[in-house]
Amino acid sequence: MTQAPAVHGCPIDESFDPLSPDFLADPCAVMAALPREGRPIFFAPSIGYYVLTRYADIEQVFRDPSSYSAAVAQAPLVPLVPEAQRILLAGGHKPQPSMVSLDEPEHARLRKPAARALSMKRVTALVPVIEATTARLLDAVGPAAEFDLVAALAFPLPANIVFSLMGVPERDFAQIKHWSGYRAALGWGRPAPADQVEIATGMAAYRSYLRELVDAKLLEAGDDLTSDLIAIHRENPERLTQEEIASILFSLSFAGHETTTGLIGNTVRRLLEVPQRWSAVAANPSLIPAAVEETLRYDPSVPVWRRVTTRPVTLAGVNLPEGARLFLWLAAAGRDPAAFGQPDDFDLRRPDAGRHLAFGQGLHYCLGANLGKLEAQIAVAALAKRYPGLLLAPDQRLAFHPNISFRGPQVLRVRTE
Ligand code: HEM
Repeated sequence: MTQAPAVHGCPIDESFDPLSPDFLADPCAVMAALPREGRPIFFAPSIGYYVLTRYADIEQVFRDPSSYSAAVAQAPLVPLVPEAQRILLAGGHKPQPSMVSLDEPEHARLRKPAARALSMKRVTALVPVIEATTARLLDAVGPAAEFDLVAALAFPLPANIVFSLMGVPERDFAQIKHWSGYRAALGWGRPAPADQVEIATGMAAYRSYLRELVDAKLLEAGDDLTSDLIAIHRENPERLTQEEIASILFSLSFAGHETTTGLIGNTVRRLLEVPQRWSAVAANPSLIPAAVEETLRYDPSVPVWRRVTTRPVTLAGVNLPEGARLFLWLAAAGRDPAAFGQPDDFDLRRPDAGRHLAFGQGLHYCLGANLGKLEAQIAVAALAKRYPGLLLAPDQRLAFHPNISFRGPQVLRVRTE
């Protein structure tokens, strides 16, 4: 793609490509090879972004929304062909397609009602549902000696929870999961022109499905988050329109699904990688919340997020112009020695793991952080109880979806005996 060249004084790394097979397989190896102390910022021509690696700089960006806009958070990394652009716009999928890439005041209009509907009360009420769904999914594994943890649990659990929270009928779950896969490729991958039209068509259908869901709930409310949002709309239709409700659902259905699948897969992987870790957790389940938190620091399921400068700034010692696109490498921030002691050790007793930036910070701080962590904790607890001797199946090469922002093994084979 055509890029503005890097500004004077900023190192350039021609070889850095976060969508290359080597990077996708092992981003930590790429991170370890960087001259970290001397490279808090560099320009990556492969994507046209300035990469930030230090915790303090990334935190500064998150904390200053007037200098760093969220507008690029979901921007395609490659220019879309005109036909795909046309289909997306006609389907109501704008260049800043939902809450996470809007700035104030548009962002707050959506965030406030979404936060109200995703209250702690609603999340707490989900505990028995998450436990029952986990048990049902694990029952379905039966007496298998080996199974794929992602297909059996990490993928269906968060999807089922967030879709039922939204009030989506169960018969439509598979369709929404399918559309979500398109969404990761569109905003965070490098889809070929031939695939872009199919993706755009799927995205328009997804948007239209969500508008119809809102229409259906207007006629017949249920005990779900969509109906809570409709109640807010009825209090004051100007305050929250029906179109905005569909937009919030678009945010939640994706954000509440791929991210948590990745978190469960990454947590189980990191615990099983060292069998003593798994047995420690199985023997002492009170360690599980710490295990999830440490995974968010050590191997986050959203390893990268994005911002763009709204004015000239000095960041990590480099003067950047307005419009500079920033690749906030959250996974690198979790390994920053200036922020965490012995950052490359996975430590179940790390006192400050929860300081990670895996959920962002500030105005856009993840609305589903509590729900995502809860689901991962319940999933790991149920697995450890059933299979205290669980092992990683030998000789597997993990594969990851080719996108920059959502990371977890696509398949994780585990042995029960
Ligand atoms: C468990 C793993 C999860 C991770 C690692 C994660 C990560 C993130 C990150 C990095 C952001 C952007 C923050 C920023 O721009 O400053 C975000 C925003 C968001 N997340 Fe999550 N998320 C997770 C789970 C969830 C769940 C379960 C839901 C909902 C059910 C959710 C809903 C949202 C929403 C709606 C936003 C946009 C908030 C805004 O723009 O104000 N996330 N998340």
